[in-house]
Amino acid sequence: MISVALMGHGVVGSGVAEILTTHKQKLFSSIGEEIYLKHILDLREFPESPLADRFTKDFEDIASDREVRVVIETMGGVNPAYEFTKRCLAEGKSVVTSNKELVARHGAELLQLAKDNNANYLFEASVGGGIPILRPINQCLVANMVDEIAGILNGTTNFILTKMINENMPFDEALKLAQDLGYAERNPEADVEGHDACRKICILASLAYGKHIYPDNVHTEGITKIALEDVEYAASWGGVVKLIGKCKLLESGLMDIVVAPMFVPCTSQLANINDVFNGIMVRGDCTGDVVFYGKGAGKLPTASAVVADVVDCCKHLKARKRLFWVDTKGEDCIADYKESLTKIYLRCISQDADAAYNKAQDVFGGITRLTRADADASEFAFVTENEMPYGDILKAQAELESAGIKVASAIRIGNL
Ligand code: HSE
Repeated sequence: MISVALMGHGVVGSGVAEILTTHKQKLFSSIGEEIYLKHILDLREFPESPLADRFTKDFEDIASDREVRVVIETMGGVNPAYEFTKRCLAEGKSVVTSNKELVARHGAELLQLAKDNNANYLFEASVGGGIPILRPINQCLVANMVDEIAGILNGTTNFILTKMINENMPFDEALKLAQDLGYAERNPEADVEGHDACRKICILASLAYGKHIYPDNVHTEGITKIALEDVEYAASWGGVVKLIGKCKLLESGLMDIVVAPMFVPCTSQLANINDVFNGIMVRGDCTGDVVFYGKGAGKLPTASAVVADVVDCCKHLKARKRLFWVDTKGEDCIADYKESLTKIYLRCISQDADAAYNKAQDVFGGITRLTRADADASEFAFVTENEMPYGDILKAQAELESAGIKVASAIRIGNL
């Protein structure tokens, strides 16, 4: 019997407790030993839970229990999860987490601590919910140089955009629905402003390239400025608006990494990933594109990935798993986002839309006009025909603004 402990009995944590209970036999046949959930740490009371006798409010019950070999951290947030994780690893316990904020911020340090204490720190559930993605990158695709990773990494925003695209539902209503369904973060700003997707692309990039990529260094834009008009223009262009996290290794050795809404052509595999589903494309030099698809949020899908890591830890109590990346504090490993090449879609407002369109043509060079039904005469929209550095796009936008043309929306064109 292997004793494990759970810290945090929220949406994901309660899913973990449920799977450990309902799938006991299945897990036993995989490991050859029973997993015993000995302690559950939470400040709240759960008198109705069949595991009510396992609850504690005292972290020491877990930290100082030498029988506990694996600790599951599903508390979310950085504190106190960071301190608790460090203590557990220092005690030689393996730690499994779904906490992308913690991994994105302190992953290198915690992986080093795990290594120093001959323990494992695993976090499959931190990216893509129930989708296997970290283990495939670390194991199945290890023979490849990863040229690029691009994905829809946040279920809440994908759910919102899908509602906007398919049902013409206003943003606020769709966000409320996502929160009611338990997809959104405690603070929805992390979802809608792109921070959650940023943490996830940072984890993917860190794993794929072996260097810790810090979220604060990654240019991140959310979906709060996307209007139903943009969704319509995307359709007339032949695509959809998706929030994409993307990283690409440049020849310079620097990483081109960004999180932003993008027009994605209908021909792309990422265009048809809807609702709370996530999709992640990994471009390997041997395999070509490999796409992973599944539920990126929600109780049982995420708990499924957590439990898989628990099983892996139970199978590797003595021999460590080889999952590691190095710290990069003070090192330059990300290219300036203003040098990133892209085409762009712009929606503009001007009293004289035709003259303004001609001005846009002068400023950007080749552009293609887009149309939509019921557009006001003052509105016009276009996509550029050639890729430009993002900094040049910002300068061109400023030139339009100084000519009295309001830029209502600017969205990158995803080459996906
Ligand atoms: N809020 C996150 C999302 C949960 O919507 O994807 C899963 O990480």
